[in-house]
Amino acid sequence: MQAVIEYLQKNQARFVEELIEYLRFPSVSAQPQHRKDLQACGEWLVQQCRGIGLDARLCPTEGNPILIAKTPGAQGGKRPHYVVYGHYDVQPPEPFELWKSPPFEPRIVGRALFARGSSDNKGQNLAHLKAVEAYLKTGTPLPCDLTFVIEGEEEVGSASLATFLKQHRAELKCDAIVISDTGMPSPKHPALTYALRGIAAMELIVHGPSRDLHSGIFGGSVDNPAMVLSQLLAKVRDKNGRITIPGFYDDVTPLSAYERKQLARLPGSDSAYRKFLGVPQLFGERGFTSTEQRSARPTFEINGLTSGYQGEGSKTIIPAWARAKITMRLVPNQNPRKIIQAARRYLASLCPPTVRLETKSGHGAEPYVVAPTSPQAQAALRALKSAFGREPVLLREGGSIPIVNDFKKFLHADTLLLGLALPDANAHSPNEQFDLDCFEKGQLMSAYLWQELSAAGA
Ligand code: BES
Ligand code: ZN
Repeated sequence: MQAVIEYLQKNQARFVEELIEYLRFPSVSAQPQHRKDLQACGEWLVQQCRGIGLDARLCPTEGNPILIAKTPGAQGGKRPHYVVYGHYDVQPPEPFELWKSPPFEPRIVGRALFARGSSDNKGQNLAHLKAVEAYLKTGTPLPCDLTFVIEGEEEVGSASLATFLKQHRAELKCDAIVISDTGMPSPKHPALTYALRGIAAMELIVHGPSRDLHSGIFGGSVDNPAMVLSQLLAKVRDKNGRITIPGFYDDVTPLSAYERKQLARLPGSDSAYRKFLGVPQLFGERGFTSTEQRSARPTFEINGLTSGYQGEGSKTIIPAWARAKITMRLVPNQNPRKIIQAARRYLASLCPPTVRLETKSGHGAEPYVVAPTSPQAQAALRALKSAFGREPVLLREGGSIPIVNDFKKFLHADTLLLGLALPDANAHSPNEQFDLDCFEKGQLMSAYLWQELSAAGA
């Protein structure tokens, strides 16, 4: 291990340069105009992996290509096999004007590297690649076989990867999946995440008149789709922060007293959290702490709301339509299809006959939860402790990684979530950043992890 550790230390400056190259690709999966950038980013990854000494290929899909890279001479079944999953696609960078430097022109300030995708997820998956590079370049034998799966559609629901997993079950058969695509509460609190929320996406469109109308000539005699949509949405949540959709909470597994006690031990205060978010007051479902509200309780969020004239100045119209993009976060044992059904039915029942409501269902993913007491989880905790020199904490996270349930279903393997993003990483927000200390310690964690996991599995 000494050689691996020294190699990592010696090569940090180059690793950062490579991460910067990786971050220059505007690999925005939500926007069709970036298809070519996603392809180019995938090709860059193949070259990067081959340079490291991995057997790498880019697999075309109906969507964006998936990178597969294996440690050489994989012994197929004789040794433990772990799959490292990550994604090279990123969230849209908009609104551009709020970035202090352009999102795809990485910039370092102190130990922070600013760029879209730096934390979510390029920096985190490159940390694992660099750990393997250290093994291969120093000739240190790895105690296991590794396969990297880095996809380009995570931020839009991983549609192609699910099919890919089904087709490549045999090749990807493994003892565990490792993902660094979550967070850690502070530099002093490395973390193992044992639960993620699921998600159910939908779009609501309220159709009114056949065209935008003069609001003076017609206003008062015809319903306003923007008003109707606002009224519908306002009925979905009550003053206690409870979602009013009938059946919404029916399947929710309540938090155990033990879990609540553990979650209450995490660092951070509500007042610091409030200031960090820049809100005058926090809001959430009554009866739960903010940590519980954002990790272990389901939500209904409006992600986008559009109607009428949005340009400068005023335009006196009744808009022809109004639209809302919605996602609901789900917790163990809720089912995305069932929840979408319930939401559709409820909204339809509320909609007045003066407009037509269209609902489109989008991507969905089930919530995930795994025992933090398994030998593999314990091995991961030891690797975190060795790398960070601190006792790790156990987390439930509010975000979603749609593919983890498919890993379980198709590969019959559990996922270890070892996130490296700090709370101020600004994932999905302007000025996303990745802490270069987390980058370095993440590489170290990955290097220890293969030893710990393989020993635990033996
Ligand atoms: N890295 C996140 C997921 C995440 C972030 C989990 C923080 C836990 C803590 C991932 O890239 C992501 O953003 N996923 C999307 C999935 C969705 C588009 C289906 C999400 O959670 O919004
Ligand atoms: Zn993301």
